[in-house]
Amino acid sequence: MTPSIQQLTPQSSSRPAIQTHGLRKVFGEKIAVKGLTLEVAQGEVFGFLGPNGAGKSTFIKMLLGLVAPTRGEAFVLGHAAGDVNARKKVGFLPEHFRFYDWLTAAELLRFHGRLYGMTDSQLRKRVSELLDLVSLWPHREKRLREFSKGMLQRIGLAQALLNDPELIFLDEPTSGLDPVGRRLVRDIIRQQRSRGATVFLNSHLLSEVEITCDRVAFIKHGEMLETRRLQEERGSEIDVLIRAQNWNTAILEGLAPWALSICGEGERLTLRVACAEALPEIIRYLVSQDVKVYEMTPQRTSLEDLFLQIVGEDGGL
Ligand SMILES: Nc1ncnc2c1ncn2[C@@H]1O[C@H](COP(=O)(O)OP(=O)(O)OP(=O)(O)O)[C@@H](O)[C@H]1O
Ligand SMILES: [Mg+2]
Repeated sequence: MTPSIQQLTPQSSSRPAIQTHGLRKVFGEKIAVKGLTLEVAQGEVFGFLGPNGAGKSTFIKMLLGLVAPTRGEAFVLGHAAGDVNARKKVGFLPEHFRFYDWLTAAELLRFHGRLYGMTDSQLRKRVSELLDLVSLWPHREKRLREFSKGMLQRIGLAQALLNDPELIFLDEPTSGLDPVGRRLVRDIIRQQRSRGATVFLNSHLLSEVEITCDRVAFIKHGEMLETRRLQEERGSEIDVLIRAQNWNTAILEGLAPWALSICGEGERLTLRVACAEALPEIIRYLVSQDVKVYEMTPQRTSLEDLFLQIVGEDGGL
């Protein structure tokens, strides 16, 4: 069964999905979130990254109205955080997913659906679609206490999507999942992006974040260190590694129109180019010169390297 996708029509394209100003939370002596100011646009897939204890989950809970801020302001879909009008349009997969474990998977979704005010006929359709989406249809009558960690994570995801949310918070959605489950989360995020929803993702699995997010923020000790756009900026320089045979110095000199620098040794050519548009031209030229090109790999700094550069290797605890 293919889930029906309800396309969103943005209320006002300029209104941010999330807007906070100086949002702060102190638990006793502990400053969990230190006055965070952040804006997430509608339709963005946003990664919120930071070491253990950085304040990520606390920040999400304040946006959902589950934790009262000590100071500052937060708006979600144009409403004050926690307002019922925002909560109706928000989905949430909590970090520690604990539900009434005597319920079956289908009962849990029906229970949450009724809380959203869904009718029995809406629920019948939606619950079946979602159980199918997260591959739990064969386990729909099983009680949650018999579920594995990954199965709980899957039913949690289904629960987060019940109300066709405009904004979805996923706090460590892949932590208990096998590779198939991780791909499922990735596909769900893509699907949500294409229907116009905003996704706010907390994850330590940076390779997943790298593939799925448009923009990330790095936080540590409750403070924002930096935000970064992950898509390659058009016009920015790229280092490229080419593995090739049959080249010579004269051929390399012919690459001058595209390459800012070139270094060749054995089968390895390393080039710096001004922008990605140069890459197909370089391949075309090399092939025209009878060079055997086996591999061309842009050398990017991985998100993990970036995380360690920005956050530091000492962690946050
Ligand atoms: N209810 C609470 N009472 C007291 N301290 C808390 C509470 N909730 C969180 N904290 C503290 O606030 C800090 C931030 O915690 P939070 O759970 O937001 O971190 P996190 O970034 O989500 O970490 P992780 O990556 O481990 O999930 C931690 O030092 C934590 O011990
Ligand atoms: Mg957390």
